Amino acid sequence: MFVEVTVGIEPVTPFNGLVQSLGEFPPEAVVFGSSDAMQTLRARMNKVASANVPVLIHGESGTGKDIIARMIHALSPWKTGPFVKVNCPAIPATLLESELFGYEKGAFTGAYGSKPGRVELAHRGSLFLDEISELDLALQSKLLQLLQDGQFCRIGAQEDKKVEVRVVCATNRQLETEIENGTFRQDLFYRINVVSLHLPPLRERRGDIGSLVSYFLEYYNQKYNCRARALSPEVMGRLEKYHWPGNIRELENLMKRYVILGGEDVITTELVARNGQEFFNPEISLDGPISLKKLTRQATRELERKVILKVLQAHHWNRKQAARALSISYRALLYKIRDAGLPPNRASRRSTEETAGKSVAAG
Ligand SMILES: Nc1ncnc2c1ncn2[C@@H]1O[C@H](COP(=O)(O)OP(=O)(O)O)[C@@H](O)[C@H]1O
Ligand SMILES: [Mg+2]
Repeated sequence: MFVEVTVGIEPVTPFNGLVQSLGEFPPEAVVFGSSDAMQTLRARMNKVASANVPVLIHGESGTGKDIIARMIHALSPWKTGPFVKVNCPAIPATLLESELFGYEKGAFTGAYGSKPGRVELAHRGSLFLDEISELDLALQSKLLQLLQDGQFCRIGAQEDKKVEVRVVCATNRQLETEIENGTFRQDLFYRINVVSLHLPPLRERRGDIGSLVSYFLEYYNQKYNCRARALSPEVMGRLEKYHWPGNIRELENLMKRYVILGGEDVITTELVARNGQEFFNPEISLDGPISLKKLTRQATRELERKVILKVLQAHHWNRKQAARALSISYRALLYKIRDAGLPPNRASRRSTEETAGKSVAAG
């Protein structure tokens, strides 16, 4: 039995959070790909899933935190029990306490009966608290008590209740910073962070982009009964270079649109429009060494791409004039256009201008 209870508005995901098996694509291979970081994560996840300890999953939005939380549940000793997800930011702060911990009759105006909270519903199963940094300090203390002695109190109840539950939390924030700011309890952080799993952003596992593209292509072709063709090496090259601020969710949505709308220009046009909007905003982790050289090179490339795009637009995509305006040779400009993944010809030029300025829906 796999009982799933979800509260809060959920983004629509094609797999309901779990990657579905598809012919040549077993879910494990799809989810973990082949980068070293993901293999390490997989080994760590397998080890921790069977031990009943809290796990903290962190990573940018769209990196697969939901999927990993569900995999942990599926591998845990309580896998036949409920998987209860609470999407903290989706529930108004005033309701969150009663949603989580439940209430007794008469606890507040309108409490005509008693109601169990999500914590109780997750008994002998997993409680997945998504975006944990959104919990206010009062709820953080209640959660701390739950983690310390397995006890909690419904609103308006006289006595504590006991539950056995595996708590998995996720965040895309740096909780250490929230602690410094006084918005997250340090003692709670130690409790939820017994084991942490870090999901790398897609741009740090570019080697997996190709197989994810094949997977989503196959998946959406089947789902929508379409026959979109495999991408050309040129477009694949662009996808491999792109920065992917929305990570796998962004890639997936892009592939979905490609399958439904057809035509590779769906992809190239969107990428160009997004590149134009994006600011260079590197992820700088203070945990390891920082390569100033690499960052500077990245920043220069991004700046080049923006300037070239602007100048091309200003000269109505006349590349000879643009090269002159930029004081570089025509050949150099052609090379840079290709390198930056900008559209090379008239047709793509038109679609780029049509979408320029329009915001691109992330899904
Ligand atoms: N490693 C992965 N392999 C395949 N699909 C993935 C992977 N990670 C995420 N996805 C897909 O991307 C979307 C976002 O994943 P999700 O787990 O909701 O990310 P997060 O919770 O980190 O924001 C979902 O539709 C999910 O199915
Ligand atoms: Mg999520």
